[in-house]
Amino acid sequence: MHAPTPPRPVPPASTPAANVSKIIQEGGTVEPVREILWGSSAGVRKYESGEELPGDMRKLVIRLMVVQADTEFASIQQHRPWLDSAPTLEDRWIEARIVADEARHGLQACRVLRDFGEDGQKDIDELLTKREGEHKLDAFNMKFERWSDVGAFTCLVDRVGVYQLRSFQECSYGPLARAMPLMLSEEQLHLNFGFSVLRRMAQYGPKYSGSKDEAQAAVNKWYPRALDMFGHSNSDTSRRAIEYGLKRWTNEEARERYIHEVTPLLTSIGLQVPTADFDRHIR
Ligand SMILES: [Fe+2]
Ligand SMILES: [Fe+2]
Repeated sequence: MHAPTPPRPVPPASTPAANVSKIIQEGGTVEPVREILWGSSAGVRKYESGEELPGDMRKLVIRLMVVQADTEFASIQQHRPWLDSAPTLEDRWIEARIVADEARHGLQACRVLRDFGEDGQKDIDELLTKREGEHKLDAFNMKFERWSDVGAFTCLVDRVGVYQLRSFQECSYGPLARAMPLMLSEEQLHLNFGFSVLRRMAQYGPKYSGSKDEAQAAVNKWYPRALDMFGHSNSDTSRRAIEYGLKRWTNEEARERYIHEVTPLLTSIGLQVPTADFDRHIR
């Protein structure tokens, strides 16, 4: 049983909606934003503890954090074999750094879960038992068989992660909103690295590692899984997450933005982008 939800402060007469686009365009703020910026409670003070959250929103935050933590821990398992077999010294060092970053992101998501007492702890205990092949999203149950998989995964799949995190930026749950800036800056390194692996493969072939064809095959393998990660286009969960001020975009909006970003990036290094319906499992 949860404690009854305490009364919420009354919203001011004017909502800060006009500030939202400015804050978001600038990629966040230095001053912490104390009000909910969008959704049905826009203008009200943000939620700061698990006990304050209304029942359905509480369940949703827990669910979102379990998926988030699961992807972080899963990617450590995927990267692990490459810590000492990446092609160059610098690549090995970045692999080590990525693993450390993902461990920290998992810890951060679990800290949010801990705020939900026994329920959250039960989820954390379960997350720690998950082995390869037992994770929630397909992209995190696939092995990195070649170095090109590492490049395409970090370029394409970590980038979806960035969209998910940006969707939580300045969200209505304070502890989650405050975890975002550091996670986002670290993820940026991962996806820049992934792009540089694909670029070097396409540009230098075996002088670096693999070949342009191998890079293309890896793009064809991971791009559909990346698009799937955004979830169903008509998802009721994503609609509720926006209403609660937790997420900014619907699944389809985020997927469209992603395609728009990735397409020129891959074509700039001579790689083809598969069509949006190629090999998709979730629509
Ligand atoms: Fe991460
Ligand atoms: Fe990452």
